[in-house]
Amino acid sequence: MKAGVEGGSKELRFTVRKARPEEIYIVMDINQRTLPENYWYGFYKFLLDNWGEAFLVAETSEGDIIGYAMSRVERTRDPVLLGLKSELENDKSVLSKVIDAIRSQLAEERPVGHLVSIAVLPEYRRKGVGSALLAKTIEVMDRVYNVDAIYLEVRVSNAPAIRLYEKFGFKKVRVWRGYYRDGEDAYIMVKRLVD
Ligand code: ACO
Ligand code: ZN
Repeated sequence: MKAGVEGGSKELRFTVRKARPEEIYIVMDINQRTLPENYWYGFYKFLLDNWGEAFLVAETSEGDIIGYAMSRVERTRDPVLLGLKSELENDKSVLSKVIDAIRSQLAEERPVGHLVSIAVLPEYRRKGVGSALLAKTIEVMDRVYNVDAIYLEVRVSNAPAIRLYEKFGFKKVRVWRGYYRDGEDAYIMVKRLVD
């Protein structure tokens, strides 16, 4: 039996599975071709060593790696990252949001999944690969890492990715002004996994 998730249309057969250490360079290459946020080898290795079940690749039936998703687990007292509260439901000033945020810190830290990066090579997009990677990430975060929620940052202009996340129940909960190096804002989006 084949390991991993079966997915894809007639035109594209692929599986989603754990990445192997020797595939880090392929993942780095896909990342550099698809996103301006790039990382050095040691960072990928750190994610793979620590949260390997959530370091995923999509592989075609031909054996080509065409996409990846990698995540980490963190602990936080921030109710927004845990999906307990949104800052985008009212039009309060930044200062009062900050004061609110400090006031509403939870007494205890809780585990939260952080989807660090997900990408699919351009020629393989819109065929369900991103969905399969995200679905498996959510499943692993829930079942293996027992997190309360999953969060991520995404460029406010990245409509395809935002649409994908919303399809899987992620909600915009915070705007992080000037998060990216070029000055663009990020949305923080969260999907809560427990009640
Ligand atoms: N326009 C509008 N909606 C889109 C688009 C698009 N270009 N692409 C995907 N979607 C939405 C649609 O709702 C789509 O469902 P549909 O095809 O049935 O309409 C849904 O997302 C799922 O699409 P998939 O085919 O599963 O996703 P895909 O394999 O194309 O991968 C991804 C999506 C990963 C966002 C891809 O476009 C990509 O690699 N983009 C560049 C890298 C990137 O922006 N990554 C996210 C950065 S944020 C972060 O990493 C935390
Ligand atoms: Zn991040």
